[in-house]
Formats: sequence, structure tokens, C-alpha cells
Amino acid sequence: MRFKENNYNKIFVGISNFIRTICGGDRLKRIIEIIEKLLKETSKESNKKIRILDFGCGSMEISKKLQNKKYIKQIVGSDIFKHKFRTKKMVYLENDKLFKSKKKFDIIFVVDVLHHIGVEEAHKIIKKLYKHSNKIIVKDHFEHGLLSRSLLRFVDFYANYGYGVNVPDKYFDKKMWKKTILKSKSKELFRKENFQQHDGLFNIILNKKHHFVSIIKADE
Ligand SMILES: C[S@@+](CC[C@H](N)C(=O)[O-])C[C@H]1O[C@@H](n2cnc3c(N)ncnc32)[C@H](O)[C@@H]1O
Repeated sequence: MRFKENNYNKIFVGISNFIRTICGGDRLKRIIEIIEKLLKETSKESNKKIRILDFGCGSMEISKKLQNKKYIKQIVGSDIFKHKFRTKKMVYLENDKLFKSKKKFDIIFVVDVLHHIGVEEAHKIIKKLYKHSNKIIVKDHFEHGLLSRSLLRFVDFYANYGYGVNVPDKYFDKKMWKKTILKSKSKELFRKENFQQHDGLFNIILNKKHHFVSIIKADE
């Protein structure tokens, strides 16, 4: 959807996808399982089909896998690039337009996005997102010192090459995440640390201590 088309990028992404397939690099399998469970619960609690925002959606790979669930009414994907994308249940909206709108969602998910926005800036985006829903699922990274940061930067470079996504200078650590929760006036309902995202070689290179999932809500 937002891939920068040129031959070098095509070749790199082709090779990279092949390596991912044979080395346990599917980053979405487990995160989709956890998101699906939470969405189902949200629908059950409200006893209706739900509207979801996939913020920082990229190519909407997560939403594409979720869209056919019967408890989902609509998924809006939002990111920083211009695009016209629509299926029966999914629609894309540029983030500037989203923030100007009064759209409301039952829940938002933000997967591997906040560190690209910047760990110091993340609280501002979370506050903006609370205007659209008071419940947010966040999946992001924890760094554990300089080596771990370099590893995360290397993997981010590899994963986002060809897509024009910036590689951040630093990532959340537990202290920074706590600060983000405080500054965004959030309450953390749930946190899963040591979240295993990958299998095989990918899990050895970037093991589970680098991933966390958190559910936050506006602390009114
Ligand atoms: C690693 S990709 C994750 C894409 C998708 N969430 C997923 O997990 O497949 C990070 C995404 O964050 C987006 N992003 C970066 N800054 C953003 C911002 N300020 N607002 C919305 N999205 C942003 C990028 O364009 C990119 O699509």
C-alpha cells in the first residue's frame, strides 16, 4: 500500500520476506491472537459489533486478517501517508483527517508505531487518540541498555527498509513507559512483558524481553 516502488526495494523486500518465512519471522501471528481476544471481549462487554481504529496501520496487514470476524463492524486504518483504500469493512484515513474528525471507536490498536513517533512524543499522540476512544491496545518495544537498543534499531531498519519509515534513536524502557502513562493521563489495565513475537532465528535475535503489550485507558 505504501511501499516505495523501485527495483532495489522490490528485490530487498522479496529476499527479506523469504528469510522471514523460513526463519520464524512472522511478527503478526501472536499479536493478532492477543488483539483478537481483546476485541472479542470488547464486543461481548458492549453486546454489539465494534468499530476499531488501527492507528499507524501501515499496509493494514493486521486489519486485513481481522476484518472478517463477525463481531467487527468497521476498521479504520490511519497513517501518515496519502492513500485511497476501502474494502467492505475497512477504510483508510490519513491521520491529520482523523484528528480533525469526531470519529469514535470502541477500541484502538497501535502496533509497533509509538517508537517511530518518538518515545518523548508518544504521550501527545495517546492524548489525541483518547478523543476517539478511551481504550487503546499498545504493542511496542522495551530496550535494555545500549546493545539492546542497537539490536532494535538494526531490526527496525531491516523490517522497514523500502517503506520510508524512520529508524528511532531510542525505545521505551519501563521507566519511560511509566512516564508516558502518567503524561498521557492514562491508567494501565493490563501489561504483558516478555511477549514472544517471533519464532526461530528471529526470536533468538530479538527475544521476548524486547516486546510488550499494554492496554491503557483514559484516567478521567
Ligand atoms: C513498523 S510499522 C507498523 C505498521 C502496522 N502497525 C503493523 O504492525 O503492521 C510503523 C508504522 O507507523 C507509522 N507512523 C509513523 N509515524 C506516525 C504518526 N505520527 N502517525 C501515524 N502513524 C505513524 C509508519 O508510517 C508505519 O506505517
